[in-house]
Amino acid sequence: MTPVLLDCDPGHDDAVAMLYAARHLDLRAITTVYGNQTLEKVTRNALALCRLARLDAPVAAGAAKPLLGEGPKDVTIHGKTGIDGAELPEPDRAPLDIHAVELILRTARAHRGELVLAATGALTNVALALSTEPKLKDWLRAITIMGGSTGIGNSTEVAEFNIHVDPEAADMVLRAGVPTWVVGLDVTRRVGVTAEQIASLREGGRLARTMADLLDFFLDSLRRVHGLNTASLHDPCALVPFIDPGLIEYRHTSVRVELAGTLTRGMTVAELRRLGSTQLGHIRPSAAPNVHLAREPSPRLVPHILAAIREMDVRAT
Ligand code: RIB
Ligand code: CA
Repeated sequence: MTPVLLDCDPGHDDAVAMLYAARHLDLRAITTVYGNQTLEKVTRNALALCRLARLDAPVAAGAAKPLLGEGPKDVTIHGKTGIDGAELPEPDRAPLDIHAVELILRTARAHRGELVLAATGALTNVALALSTEPKLKDWLRAITIMGGSTGIGNSTEVAEFNIHVDPEAADMVLRAGVPTWVVGLDVTRRVGVTAEQIASLREGGRLARTMADLLDFFLDSLRRVHGLNTASLHDPCALVPFIDPGLIEYRHTSVRVELAGTLTRGMTVAELRRLGSTQLGHIRPSAAPNVHLAREPSPRLVPHILAAIREMDVRAT
């Protein structure tokens, strides 16, 4: 099984990513980063979810704010706890007494050439790890990111939250030269669970019922704030290329991060033109391809994620 480290900010959809990773991959470690809530809250949420789902991966807390400036304030989509909607068990263990960067480096060193680093929050920890130890880019098999958008944003008209909270970190990671997969809002908003699909989870045990409560809260938030009618499973989408590549179609192209735009800071700019190779005149590709960019989700993906929740529910019962 592919070893994976999940860097996340639980977060309702991060919680689904934890289960999806544990079901289909070898979840070796979990690191946390500020974002959906404060570092303290998302770290507590990760530990509480580990207890609920009986995950024994080590957890280490990382950055409490972006490389530049302060972190997001008053993030309400995921509630005051960062994972409102259900009573989670009290954590039964503490995070490791090391920084997330150290856990990333130790795990990558131990699984040289095999470890996939999945990032479903701000990219601050990943950028810090790459700058702390340049050899990391050779130790990692891949980086796979939920972030950005080739369409509208959520944090701003054009910027998606995970990139917008730390554009400098995202820029560093996308330039690092590690084989990288990116799935953006333009795809993940098409990977949503309906109220009826959420309700079907209630036939299961404690884990499935708790996930149903959490996803009901998340759906209500997305409906209230963005007018959506499904709960977007953003974060588990980042794991798909290493679970079943047939569930999301990717395209190798260039994706860059806007750092200076007055109106567009944090926007991801993707090359989606289908340029010919000759007689281009003044029209030229602006950058070389640097990522595999998600373009089309399969209709099989939502059922595949829901099945993983049910299977993890059986394991935890
Ligand atoms: O924009 C969606 C992303 O921001 C997801 O990762 C969600 O958990 C939040 O972190
Ligand atoms: Ca997240």
